[in-house]
Amino acid sequence: AGMTTLDPGFANTAACQSEITFIDGEAGILRYRGYPIQELAAGSSFLEVAYLVIHGELPEPGQLKEFSEQLQANAALPPELRAMLDAFPRNAHPMTLLASAVNTLGAFYADSTDPGDAEQVDRATMLLLAKLPTIAAHIYRNSIGEAPVAPDESLDYVENFLRMTFGELSGEAELDSLFVKALDLLLILHADHEQNCSTATVRVVGSSQASLYGSVSAGINALFGPLHGGANQAVLEMLEEIRGLGGDVDAFLAKVKDKQSKTRLMGFGHRVYKNFDPRSKEIKGLAAEILDRQENPDELFELALKLEGKALADSYFTDRKLYPNVDFYSGVIYRAMGFPTNMFTVLFAIGRLPGWIAHWREQRLDPAARIARPRQLYVGHAQRSYPGRV
Ligand code: CMC
Repeated sequence: AGMTTLDPGFANTAACQSEITFIDGEAGILRYRGYPIQELAAGSSFLEVAYLVIHGELPEPGQLKEFSEQLQANAALPPELRAMLDAFPRNAHPMTLLASAVNTLGAFYADSTDPGDAEQVDRATMLLLAKLPTIAAHIYRNSIGEAPVAPDESLDYVENFLRMTFGELSGEAELDSLFVKALDLLLILHADHEQNCSTATVRVVGSSQASLYGSVSAGINALFGPLHGGANQAVLEMLEEIRGLGGDVDAFLAKVKDKQSKTRLMGFGHRVYKNFDPRSKEIKGLAAEILDRQENPDELFELALKLEGKALADSYFTDRKLYPNVDFYSGVIYRAMGFPTNMFTVLFAIGRLPGWIAHWREQRLDPAARIARPRQLYVGHAQRSYPGRV
């Protein structure tokens, strides 16, 4: 009707202008603020990238140090928030608890919830970045029945998170530093991805001038779904299922190709990339490096390699331009580090937080931004009369 066009999943509708992330899906290009993802992956750190994504420019060394120290100094959780986390069911999915805890930050720090006040927005930005890893580690420790580990101000962001999660890492210094490097890299690769489902959610919620905490909490719930961030968990479950079937990759692919089965090859396909997801290339190399260090070959990684090879040689996938995405190999790395599958999407959330914040802040300052309010094409009944009571 009139100007309204039907566009399911917003595949052709740009809802905003943005300066944060550039993607060319046909060419497999991804840049944050103009910097190619490969260069950031090779030389930067997650905190530097977080600063870049949020503020638009790389930090000066002094700014990076100050940024990092502020996050370290604010990593601890208020006792009431810890008590709240301790009261949650221990067997709940960590993503459910993460979204709840982030929403509740708006109650503990109510003096930083006004989107109209730039200082409050800066404070909410800092508190979210500082506390998300601590909340995530606390949820994990509770889930395994171990006492939470307090943040250590002398450690940097990623190392501190790993210590709060595992207490000790592998115990082997070289492997520990490889794990820190690997997680740092994975977080860099997840830091932003323009208008994906969770970021679009953060923008939609923020467009009503809801707080940053409430908007990010909504984004975490969007990320949880298996078609989005939940795919990293689903990939591992799929690999385990195939192993359970005696490793028969062909039988599994036949099931995927049979549309009746409603089975998808998890970790494959993307709305925007019709070519290799440049993040998956970086992650595959990292997976090989880490799993090389293990004594026994990792069966699930081998299965993933086999699955990828067969799929890329199969016209079902090549005709539809389905390639491995960011989630295909990340899970095997998280698993090698000792994370249980239900923590994988939490790691994605820690990585994506700078992107969510950057988009929310960009929208806040965008003079063209309006409340998000899509239209619809009504296809229900025409007017009819209520029959009245008998
Ligand atoms: N396995 C089998 N077939 C697939 C897959 C897949 N993974 N992905 C797409 N297809 C088929 C789909 O059935 C359709 O076929 P046809 O034209 O015969 O009906 C065609 O390819 C186009 O698919 P679509 O559903 O229209 O694509 P979309 O852009 O709406 O969905 C997607 C994108 C990522 C949700 C989808 O590819 C998918 O479900 N992939 C598996 C889940 C996954 O790995 N998600 C992570 C995405 S990347 C990071 C993130 O967002 O977290």
